[in-house]
Amino acid sequence: MNLIVCVDAKWGIGYKNELLVRIPSDQKFFRETTTGKVVVMGRKTLDSFPGGKPLKNRTNIVVTSNTNCEKRDEEIYVHSVEECLELLKDYNDEDIYIIGGASIYKQFLPYCKKALVTRVDREFSADTYFPNLDQDDEWEITSESEEQTYFDNTFEFLVYERK
Ligand SMILES: NC(=O)c1ccc[n+]([C@@H]2O[C@H](COP(=O)([O-])OP(=O)(O)OC[C@H]3O[C@@H](n4cnc5c(N)ncnc54)[C@H](OP(=O)(O)O)[C@@H]3O)[C@@H](O)[C@H]2O)c1
Repeated sequence: MNLIVCVDAKWGIGYKNELLVRIPSDQKFFRETTTGKVVVMGRKTLDSFPGGKPLKNRTNIVVTSNTNCEKRDEEIYVHSVEECLELLKDYNDEDIYIIGGASIYKQFLPYCKKALVTRVDREFSADTYFPNLDQDDEWEITSESEEQTYFDNTFEFLVYERK
């Protein structure tokens, strides 16, 4: 299983249930990477999408403790990490992407082999963070893009893999 995340210089990922920054080429990368795949998210991340709607052309799995949320045509609800992992057995492990937010990244990180990290070299006001993989001995960078810019944002695409 994989995860995909955009972090700032301090591994911040969100503020007031919004992303810190929107960079078109990062959004394109996210769309191209996850289209046709399985995306796993927390209920708050689903709420942060336009109209609270799931992502098109992907199998959307939403983790919530609210048992009134049941499977609908557009998304599948699960109510615990265990229930989610059981459901994920039905899919190819390589096709699964954990897409946040903070609580979901934290709980699913132990099951991920690869992390696709867009790192923006700037510090934003953040209230949610991703675990710092540079300080985690179990992870190493296996690929790093050229530095890119979008207005005053410098960023790069990194691949971390479990050693
Ligand atoms: N930078 C990025 O790449 C990126 C990506 C995604 C999200 N984000 C940001 O991250 C922030 C949201 O993160 P967050 O941690 O606050 O919210 P979240 O992880 O998206 O959702 C949290 C919710 O998920 C449900 N949940 C989590 N663990 C559960 C479990 N074990 N069992 C049952 N339900 C569980 C609960 O829903 P209920 O309350 O319904 O029970 C919980 O309130 C936003 O700012 C968002 O923009 C950033």
